[in-house]
Amino acid sequence: MYKNVSFKEITDQRGSLVALEQGIEIPFDMKRVYFIYGVGGDDRRGFHAHRNLKQLMVCVSGNCKVLLDDGGEKVVVSLNSPSKGITVNSMVWREMYDFSEGCVLMVVADDIYRECDYIRDYELFQEELKK
Ligand code: TYD
Repeated sequence: MYKNVSFKEITDQRGSLVALEQGIEIPFDMKRVYFIYGVGGDDRRGFHAHRNLKQLMVCVSGNCKVLLDDGGEKVVVSLNSPSKGITVNSMVWREMYDFSEGCVLMVVADDIYRECDYIRDYELFQEELKK
C-alpha cells in the first residue's frame, strides 16, 4: 500500500539540503509536482483513490497525517520531515488531516493531472477493488 522513504540530508553550518532524483529517491518517472498548503487545522483533504497514479508525499514544512486504506487495512502515517516521505501505490484511498500551521505537503506524481484517474466515491472504490 505504501513505503516509508528517507532521503540523504546534506547539512552544513548554513542549513540543510535534500535532493530528489528520478530513479533514485523517486522510484518512478515523474511527470508532476504539486504542493498543498494553507490548510486549516480542522480541514481534511484527499478523500479519493487513484486508479493508476503513483505518488511520493513529503511534508517539506510542518506536519500532517495521512490515512491510507487499501480496502482491507487502514494505516495512519505522520509526515513531519523534509527528509522523510512515503510512496503510495494506486488504488489506495487517502485522507490528509491535522495539518500544522505553515504545513507544506509536496506530492510528486508519475502522471499529469487527469480527473478520470480519480475515484472520489468510497463505495465505487470498494467496487473497483473487487474487479
Ligand atoms: P483535490 O483533488 O480536491 O485536492 P485534494 O486531493 O488535496 O483534496 O483538487 C483540488 C482542485 O485542484 C481540483 O479542482 C482539481 C485541481 N487540481 C489540478 O488542477 N491539478 C492537480 O495536479 C491537482 C492535484 C488538483
